[in-house]
Amino acid sequence: MHHVLDPGPELLTEAPIEVVEYPEEGPLTEEAIRGAVEAHGCQGILSQVMDPLRNTVLSTPGLKIVSNVAVGFDNIELDAATRHGVMATNTPGVLTQTTADFAVTLMMAAARRVPEGDRFVRAGRFHGWAIDMLLGQDVWGATLGLVGVGRIGGAVARRARAFDMRIIYTDEVPLPPEVERELGATRVGLATLLSEADFVSLHVPLTAQTRHLIGSEQLAQMKPTAVLVNTSRGPVVDEAALAEALERKVIFAAGLDVFEREPDVHPGLLGLDNVVLAPHIASGSVRTRSEMSALAVRNLLAGLAGERPPNLLNPEVLDRVAG
Ligand code: DGY
Repeated sequence: MHHVLDPGPELLTEAPIEVVEYPEEGPLTEEAIRGAVEAHGCQGILSQVMDPLRNTVLSTPGLKIVSNVAVGFDNIELDAATRHGVMATNTPGVLTQTTADFAVTLMMAAARRVPEGDRFVRAGRFHGWAIDMLLGQDVWGATLGLVGVGRIGGAVARRARAFDMRIIYTDEVPLPPEVERELGATRVGLATLLSEADFVSLHVPLTAQTRHLIGSEQLAQMKPTAVLVNTSRGPVVDEAALAEALERKVIFAAGLDVFEREPDVHPGLLGLDNVVLAPHIASGSVRTRSEMSALAVRNLLAGLAGERPPNLLNPEVLDRVAG
């Protein structure tokens, strides 16, 4: 398992299980995880988003459950887990509001050039108010395009209402009419969303369909004054295409919490002032990370005890056993 926050460690200590911690931080290979799981005969893994849990790991004999400390689970090959009878769980709900807060933070920081202003001041370049200094884009009254309105996208929409934003969205499934009314949100196609939105915020899971959903063609459809925000998964955006579009000012700015090959960041982004870069911390408030830890540990312990974990992603595993 990885390090988890209070009350996760207490819950683990109180449980009748033996806990082994990964000795290393940072990205682990499938082989390293399998090696550790086999060496200790682990029946459960408490994992995080950078752990590749694919067939090599999931086929380890005796493994019962992988519990991700995250709502996203693209690091888990769910089909393989199900095939090998391994339960997989995530931590939905507890991070919705904190992540939505951060999407709005990135939106505003990028639009109003906050980190750039901070660098400007620290570099001793602030010599007094100037009418044309570091001008940004208004968030208030702008059009927000949400690509995906699940829990987090919906929470971003609720915040956007307070900024008098017009809300348009894409999603495979339309929102119920009463929610559309409550949010004042209109469902449109992706091309319309890209051409009309002043802010495009991504809230889709990473799947084969959403990989590189935003590439050079889509960026070219956006307004030159528009801001792209990504708090979903890095590979949803073609990062090389984004770096080029930002450099050529095809769009105004971007705010990114996730990257295509974390922890690496495309070198083209690092020198640009019109992108705000964050190290995958959208859910990173003290309270939320602690709630994620507790929920992930509860899922793990339930699975190890032969009970149904609260956030089971592949119930087929249990149904098969029961049937
Ligand atoms: C998630 O929950 O999927 C995040 O990426 C980690 O907080």
